[in-house]
Amino acid sequence: MIIGILNSGGDCPGINAVIEGYVSAAYRRGWRVIGFHDGFEGLLPVAGGRRYETLTPDKTHQIRSFGGTILGTTSTGNFKIHINKLGRASIDTDMLAKAKKTITALGLEALAVVGGSGSARTASLLADEGLPVISIPKTINNDLCEASDYTFGFQSAVTTVTESIDRIRTTANSHQRMMVVEVMGDQSGWIALHSGISTAADVVLIPEIPFDLQNVVECIKARKATGQREIIVVVCEGARLNGELITIRNKDKGEERLGGIGNRLSRMLQELTGIETRYCVLGHTQRGGSPCAFDRITALRFGVEAVKLIERREYGKTLVLNGPNVNTVSIEEAVRSLRLVHPDSQLVRTARDLGIIFGDRSPDRLMSERAMDTAAKATKKCRKKACKTESA
Ligand code: F6P
Repeated sequence: MIIGILNSGGDCPGINAVIEGYVSAAYRRGWRVIGFHDGFEGLLPVAGGRRYETLTPDKTHQIRSFGGTILGTTSTGNFKIHINKLGRASIDTDMLAKAKKTITALGLEALAVVGGSGSARTASLLADEGLPVISIPKTINNDLCEASDYTFGFQSAVTTVTESIDRIRTTANSHQRMMVVEVMGDQSGWIALHSGISTAADVVLIPEIPFDLQNVVECIKARKATGQREIIVVVCEGARLNGELITIRNKDKGEERLGGIGNRLSRMLQELTGIETRYCVLGHTQRGGSPCAFDRITALRFGVEAVKLIERREYGKTLVLNGPNVNTVSIEEAVRSLRLVHPDSQLVRTARDLGIIFGDRSPDRLMSERAMDTAAKATKKCRKKACKTESA
């Protein structure tokens, strides 16, 4: 059997581990693997050359620890999905014909597409055309679908953000500053929530819990009044500031993408609290670097399970990590809706009990946050008194 693999869309730590697992399992079955370069573009013919290569175990052995992808990827390119007025997606017929021709000419029995929701939609359209396709999800945002507990890339991103905020905290403490840290996540706040908890952030602002700026300011002032030197605010790029998404526009290219809330928010918070404030955008550091152990293991499992799906001729499926198991859902289900943070989830409630401020308005939450800060202030006074007694 000859099977193919490509990865499309934004990269993340762990893609090479998928490739290694896929190649290893295929060769143990006596199959051959073809890897396509730069996403779906690799399926299109190129004058005087080709954009694919045969992948063998000696080429892929131990690439599981490498960040990025040995095949390259693209978030743009010629292979575009068209959405008609009724919202129905389709692939450009010329592109589709060229892709089919490549797949047939190479004698591919199946194609694994490693990608996010956009790439999975393209994979689904290829599957609708009768092409033997399976989807392997990847995203640092962890926002695939409810059936997916974790996507590989996410834990590595949280580890990177945690290490970065730990560093930022030391300089904020030195200068008695507030630091606003902007993280990725698109419309989901998973990275912000997990890294906020792991780093004892004071404030976590995410798209799923609309925040009131005045409430955030009041809570920060109360927190500062306890004598805490530094304030750490973690904000997701997709959170809305006064109801507005903050984006970066590239008029020449007609591009608009999320980014900029960290800068805007830090200026506003400094003005409203009087605390010297700086901001830090962690950006693509969250997408780079060597995958953590959890993501390597998850990605390797996905690569191996993808080969087993092909062995069972189970096409049109997406692999998901559900608890300890790698399961499958249809690609349609996987792309139907994003997996978002539930404001009343156990994890959010735990974060509140750890003193994290989400800036939402509900009075009971405000009371509990204030009660805790009053208690902290009282504790501080006792400590001061105790110190005086000791030194007397
Ligand atoms: O979807 C993942 C993601 O990292 C987003 O969180 C981020 O806004 C976007 O990709 C950046 O995409 P690009 O690599 O095209 O700039």
